[in-house]
Amino acid sequence: MAPTARRIADIVAPQPVVEGAGVRLRRSIATGRLNYVDPFLLFDHFGSDDPRDYLAGFPMHPHRGIETVTYMLAGAVEHKDSLGNAGTIGAGDVQWMTSGGGILHEEMPKPRDGKMEGFQLWVNLPARLKMTRPRYREVLAGRIPEARRQDGVRVRVVAGVAEGVRGPVTEIAAAPSFLDVTVPGGAEYVQPVPKGHCALAYVFEGGGMFDGEGEPAVPATRMVVFGDGDHVRAKAAGGGRVRFLLISGKPLGEPIARYGPFVMNTRQEIEQALEDLRMGTFVWRG
Ligand code: FE2
Repeated sequence: MAPTARRIADIVAPQPVVEGAGVRLRRSIATGRLNYVDPFLLFDHFGSDDPRDYLAGFPMHPHRGIETVTYMLAGAVEHKDSLGNAGTIGAGDVQWMTSGGGILHEEMPKPRDGKMEGFQLWVNLPARLKMTRPRYREVLAGRIPEARRQDGVRVRVVAGVAEGVRGPVTEIAAAPSFLDVTVPGGAEYVQPVPKGHCALAYVFEGGGMFDGEGEPAVPATRMVVFGDGDHVRAKAAGGGRVRFLLISGKPLGEPIARYGPFVMNTRQEIEQALEDLRMGTFVWRG
């Protein structure tokens, strides 16, 4: 069959929201505009030049039924959790957390050289793994490989494969691909994405062209949702360069019931999570 380029199905402007203990961030998935792009439940872009926008952070809170991927561009997030992990992730690092049946954690953003910026993606867990053992992993910047092409295209491969380079995050149930792509003016980047998987591009620097010739540019910051096909094409708009996260994953096709930090399959399972919190039996014990 002939290769099919994915076309733009939707372009979403992030919405400003206040989350945690008073953190201002920009949300593209988990809003009235775009609730769920199976298997992705939420996408937040956080960061500000004003620490008052984020220093209150995300004090100890529960999660059940999901995995979260946090990818930092600048600054740091200090964290600790009910598994006994504690540490700091900084610029270029990635943290992924499987909440499974129950985790409590704290995430506190801090500036470095006045800056703090990053992304958090929530990936759904299939029904059979929602109550699995919680797990926490982090990969420091130096262990995230970067593909560099002659024409200036650069791809940091957090998860998945790009330009023959495989990323270190390999155990997320939905088998997502998570790429930090920079395309300079004049170059074109083509990324295979299996047919039937969902594909998203979050443009956060410059402007991009994703839909062939003659289209209007997609400026930062916007979330592009692609239609089906077997590859995504990207060029920079207007002779500048574009930088975006290219995220894809296999849809689960299961019903979801979501309530804040819990995402399950049924309303009853949400009630159970709240009951477990009240009873002090929430945190996973094997
Ligand atoms: Fe959290």
